[in-house]
Amino acid sequence: MDDRVVWITGGGSGMGAATARAAAAAGWIVVVSGRRAAALQQVVDAVVGQGGRAHALPLDVNDATAVAAAHREISQRYGRLDALVLAAGLNAPKRRWDDQTVASFRAIVDTNLTAVATIVDAALPSLRDSGGTVVVISSYAGWSFQPNAGVAYSASKTALASIVRTLNQQEAPSGVRATHLCPGDVATDFLDQRPEVPDAAARAVMLTADDIADAAMFVLAARPGVRIDELVISPVAQR
Ligand SMILES: NC(=O)c1ccc[n+]([C@@H]2O[C@H](COP(=O)([O-])OP(=O)(O)OC[C@H]3O[C@@H](n4cnc5c(N)ncnc54)[C@H](OP(=O)(O)O)[C@@H]3O)[C@@H](O)[C@H]2O)c1
Repeated sequence: MDDRVVWITGGGSGMGAATARAAAAAGWIVVVSGRRAAALQQVVDAVVGQGGRAHALPLDVNDATAVAAAHREISQRYGRLDALVLAAGLNAPKRRWDDQTVASFRAIVDTNLTAVATIVDAALPSLRDSGGTVVVISSYAGWSFQPNAGVAYSASKTALASIVRTLNQQEAPSGVRATHLCPGDVATDFLDQRPEVPDAAARAVMLTADDIADAAMFVLAARPGVRIDELVISPVAQR
């Protein structure tokens, strides 16, 4: 059995949870993090019920001390870390210059951007040892301008492209590789944060969390000499 370890943020729901299930089914040891311990435990129980290996490390990605402690726990427990899938993310219904607050702007940038840097920074020593893979779940809004995505969300997701490029430029000698994964609309709870929440008919033609898990697994399965810099995935219905 494969003993590679992947640490997934946002692992209690949506794309993170789907990727946790897919990675465990492919033989990876899965560690899931997020704030809701009960949601994480449900994912762990489902994985273990299918014969996979997973455990939960609940945390707020904005808490650098908790992130560092979680990385230490992974290192002590497994002695390795081979991949990160960073899916924790935030948006807000009030997202335009005429209705957002600076506090909300900060919270979104902290979660979508600074926390990604915090986790990569904590995990890099292990990733250098393993020649690890980083999958950053960004967005269509990180790939091209999306007028309705919001000020803070667009700014934070766009900057993830630079996080990925600097990682790839500076860490390649250790075999570290990173992917800027940019999904279009995906039918998850995340859509409840939109000013106008899509109905069931709109969600029916969107991507699913499992579609994104398939893409993340494609990246994780690439042989060590292969880097997938950016991956944009759209539902056919999206214009
Ligand atoms: N759905 C879409 O259409 C879409 C499209 C493109 C990109 N994305 C991106 O895809 C990623 C995954 O979202 P999703 O669609 O799968 O929705 P989701 O189910 O709402 O997932 C978001 C996850 O982020 C976690 N999270 C949020 N703030 C956190 C914090 N401070 N600390 C730890 N975890 C935190 C949440 O867990 P807790 O609440 O338990 O902390 C949740 O599991 C996000 O980064 C989002 O920006 C979504």
